[in-house]
Amino acid sequence: MFMHFKQTVALLALSLLSFACKTSSPSEAAPLAHSFKPGAVWLDNRGVAINAHGGGILEFGGTYYWFGEHKIEGKEGNFAHVGVHVYSSKDLYNWKDEGIALAVSKDPQSEITAGCILERPKVIYNARTKKFVMWFHLEFKGNGYKTARSGVAVADQPTGPYQFVHSLRPNAGHLPAGLQEDEDPKTQIYRRDLAVGQMARDMTLFVDDDGIAYHIYASEENKTLQIARLTDDYQRHSGQYVRTFINRSMEAPAICKREGKYYLIASGCTGWKPNAARSAVADNILGPWKELGNPTVGINPQTGLGPEKTFGGQSTYILPVAGRPDAFIAMFDIWRPENAIDGRYVWLPVSFANGEFKVEWQDEWDLTRFSK
Ligand code: DGJ
Repeated sequence: MFMHFKQTVALLALSLLSFACKTSSPSEAAPLAHSFKPGAVWLDNRGVAINAHGGGILEFGGTYYWFGEHKIEGKEGNFAHVGVHVYSSKDLYNWKDEGIALAVSKDPQSEITAGCILERPKVIYNARTKKFVMWFHLEFKGNGYKTARSGVAVADQPTGPYQFVHSLRPNAGHLPAGLQEDEDPKTQIYRRDLAVGQMARDMTLFVDDDGIAYHIYASEENKTLQIARLTDDYQRHSGQYVRTFINRSMEAPAICKREGKYYLIASGCTGWKPNAARSAVADNILGPWKELGNPTVGINPQTGLGPEKTFGGQSTYILPVAGRPDAFIAMFDIWRPENAIDGRYVWLPVSFANGEFKVEWQDEWDLTRFSK
């Protein structure tokens, strides 16, 4: 009778375990991908949907590392409950889950406590310090989008774990370089914020050929983008910065450099809802920048949306394909704020044909496109 009871318990435990495995663990390994399918669900090496929103990519030692916001289900997924997820890939089509690069904190006193807003993480490598440096947009828990700070974390390995260093407002005590084009007191937010530091929300990073790194961020109540040079260790602002696209209300900046010119893609400011993309070109990253208009072409058949709504997406990064000087991939997010984890990725080739800067919709494409 006793043996019988023990066997029953063991059987019950086994069947519970097998049920748990089926529901909570990934399905079988995904088949190898050989192309990009913008807007489709992209699976990682374990067959789980890639969870790296508002992301950016670092290429290091022949491997690409994709960092992005790990979102959870529902509206609560618009807040950071897990941290920054990282995936690795050799070919850009197939991604290995490398886990959580930067975890939010369980400590309610931490600036990156679970429930804060932690968006648009980007990682750069500092050859001098040999550290991987992550920057992200940080809003303290319970403060809506009023905090407008930048967070910095560092690691010795690309996949982490990253240690949170500090959060800051850019360039406290420093006035921007260059002539100020607006002296209307209502728009002098940068002067209002001089002592506390400039506001910084949507952001990206860029390391130039000379190793100097820049932080590009929506500032001044999202009215004006600022571009700030970082210190040599990439962990602070240097005090040198410019205001660009003054009062153009641009966010979601993404930047690349080709044949000595800098190109920028950004969006307007409409929250999670898509709007028309913008683009611009400059000979110097600190400006002056010349707007080129909406670079997007074509229609996303999944959403029925074209250039007026950026295919339903919003820019997050422009990835230079390693070893191919003319190959750049524009990365966008299709946000799903009602069920944040279900946001989708749209990666499209950038074309520079006939002196233009264009991003054309593709249902499916691969890197051979750049050989043409
Ligand atoms: C648009 C930004 O680009 C996103 O990163 C996010 O901050 C949403 N706004 C929030 O509404």
